[in-house]
Amino acid sequence: MPTTYVFDAYGTLFDVASAARVAANEPGREALHAVWPQLAEHWRLKQLQYTWLRTITNDHTPFWEITKDGLDWAMEKVGLTDDPELRERLLALYWELAAFREVPMMLAKLKAADKTCAILSNGNKDMLDGAVDSAGIGHFLDAVLSVEDVGIFKPSSRVYDMVGAKFGCATEDVLFVSSNGWDIAGATGYGFQTVWVNRAGDPVDRLPHRPAHVLTDLSAIPELA
Ligand code: LAC
Repeated sequence: MPTTYVFDAYGTLFDVASAARVAANEPGREALHAVWPQLAEHWRLKQLQYTWLRTITNDHTPFWEITKDGLDWAMEKVGLTDDPELRERLLALYWELAAFREVPMMLAKLKAADKTCAILSNGNKDMLDGAVDSAGIGHFLDAVLSVEDVGIFKPSSRVYDMVGAKFGCATEDVLFVSSNGWDIAGATGYGFQTVWVNRAGDPVDRLPHRPAHVLTDLSAIPELA
């Protein structure tokens, strides 16, 4: 059985689409209401692409800056450029993203079984603290590990190294959980046991390392051997 359960943050514990969805349902946001799913998807994809590109070009910058850059691209793409108030609202909502419904119960079961639980994320520390506080899950977590401490994004092995450095656990005793196929490929290649959370029913990424487990949400994590 794993001793240490490590979770990706954005898209895995926290619903990244919730910022655009919540804003779209606020009064006076008809323009966003028509396009929010596309905005959310473009925002997320650009944000991730920028992390990989900045890693390749050795040009690390905090995830918060990258999140803003991705949003600016996405807003222009869906024709919402001249709306600074909406931009500020979407960015503010990113600090209080909803956790997926099953997250508190899943973490409570792991803690009841005396497991170590942590986040390992590209997010910078203050962003992560905001989301953890807003979701009310901080008391379940033994650590919130941010790539800011190593200055490079996932899937660099230097990021996965942070888990052993923090907890002193063996690589194979870590169960790493992510909704990102590329993150799972990196973590599996690194030697972690892995769970790909595939809520959307996406095809598996054609990368060298496949997940040990595939689930549609997080609720069965405590029962995995
Ligand atoms: C994270 C992004 C990749 O939390 O979802 O690290």
